[in-house]
Formats: sequence, C-alpha cells, structure tokens
Amino acid sequence: MIIKKEELGEVLPSIQEEILNANGNVVALTGAGISKASGIPTFRGPEGKFKGKDSTELANPYTFSQNPKLVWEWYKYRMEIIHKAKPNPAHLALAELENKGLLNAVITQNVDGLHQKAGNKNVIEIHGSIWRMKCVNCDYKTQINEPISKIPPRCPNCNNILRPDVVWYGEVLPEEAIKKSHELIRNAKVLIVVGTSGLVMPAARFPGIAAAFGATVIDINPIITPVSEIAKWAILEKAEEILPLIVSSLNKT
Ligand code: APR
Repeated sequence: MIIKKEELGEVLPSIQEEILNANGNVVALTGAGISKASGIPTFRGPEGKFKGKDSTELANPYTFSQNPKLVWEWYKYRMEIIHKAKPNPAHLALAELENKGLLNAVITQNVDGLHQKAGNKNVIEIHGSIWRMKCVNCDYKTQINEPISKIPPRCPNCNNILRPDVVWYGEVLPEEAIKKSHELIRNAKVLIVVGTSGLVMPAARFPGIAAAFGATVIDINPIITPVSEIAKWAILEKAEEILPLIVSSLNKT
C-alpha cells in the first residue's frame, strides 16, 4: 500500500503495533538514501556521477585495473564528504530503536559508517567500508579514519597498490556478512527498508525473502521502487522525516 506523508497518521498505529509485537525481531535494510540528508550523494541519478562516470563504472574491478587513479579520485572525493558528514535524524532514529530493544540489526549497503556513528551496535556492512583498505597483492589490510592523501596508496608490506575494502560490481560479498544477513532476514517479523533503489543483488532479494518468510515489509523511499510492490506499507517520503515520527510514536506507548 502506497502511503503519502499526510496518510501516515492513519497507518502509524498499525506500524507501531507491528514493531512492538515483533519483540525486538525487527531488522532495518538501508541504502544510500538514508545518508542523503547527511550530504552524501546517492549512487543513481545525476548526483551519483563523477567525471562523467557512474558508480557501476567506478565501483568496478576492471576500471580499477585499467585506471586505479580515477577510482581512487572518486573514493577520495567520497571520503572527504563522508569524513565531514554527521548521522542525520534517520540514522539517529534507528539507533534509538536499537537502544530501546526494538531493533535487532541494521543490514546496510552503505560504506559510510554513519549507523555506527549514530550509535547502532549491530550493523552488518554487506558492501564493506570506505574506511578500510586492502592490498591487491598480499593480505595486508588497514583501517583509516580520514581521507587518503596519496593516490594510489601503497602497501607498506609489498609496495603494491592498495584498494578500498569495498565490494565492487561482480565481486562476492563478505561471506560472514551474507550468512548473518540471511539468518536475520529469514527470522525477521518486520523489515524496515530505507533509502534503497532495490536494484543491486543480493540486497535487492532481501525484502522478497523476508516477506516470503512471513515478515511485514515497510519501505521508506520518496519514489516507487521494486521494494514498494513487496511492502505492506511503501511510505513515499524522506527517511529523515518518517523514521523519527515512527520512533517518537513508539515513545508514547
Ligand atoms: N530518504 C529515503 N530514501 C531516499 C532519500 C531520502 N531522503 N533520498 C533518496 N532516496 C532514495 C532514492 O529514491 C533511491 O531509490 O534512495 C535510493 C538510493 O538508491 P541508490 O543510489 O541506487 O543507492 P543504493 O540502493 O544504496 O545502491 C545499492 O549500488 O552503487 C552500488 O554499492 C553501491 O551500495 C550501493 C548499491
């Protein structure tokens, strides 16, 4: 059911009831849209382009092998934005939900670390993290907490180049993260999907799997996506407006 903001009041009691009756078995699945209000560009649409290329070309092992400098310039550009970014009311609402014992985990496609910054403890980063780098040649890995200066960064062990420890198109996702995600998705009573175009596998399959296993799916995205068709409520609004409303309505119970 498609819900506009002015209709939210009618369905809020039912959303509240589903979340409270889930006994904490609520999972959030998030995408770039939840970080939009923190000033981080989403991937699809005009803002997602960098030097005329879109994320499918840049987050790509082939492009990196041919032109590591361009890919690193894109990541440095995103690191500089993310480094300054703060969690927005949508991130904070999910952290509050976890603090109240009403949210089991956040499965995120985002690599910006804002859920952890907002205070969520159980965060599964299925696409890795922009704040980790790994060597293309040896098993060196490192965590950083500010944008790189030198492009491309070099491995201190073998002097080969380092790459972002982020999952690129055509690459396998971290096994442990996927295993945990499937377990959470299959057992969730409520899946709150926030800010994803629902186009990139395997996350794009998660709402359908959750629904097939009996979960109520709630989608929060200003536009209709494949997730809207699966959702019991597809709220066509911004996450930073809706999630705080849902969480504050739970405070009144
Ligand atoms: N609140 C909620 N949703 C929003 C908001 C907002 N304020 N602003 C934009 N959106 C929605 C857009 O309508 C869009 O559907 O967020 C979605 C962002 O979609 P994408 O840019 O495709 O991002 P995402 O779904 O996270 O992409 C998945 O693709 O490029 C790869 O690895 C990258 O993790 C990424 C994956």
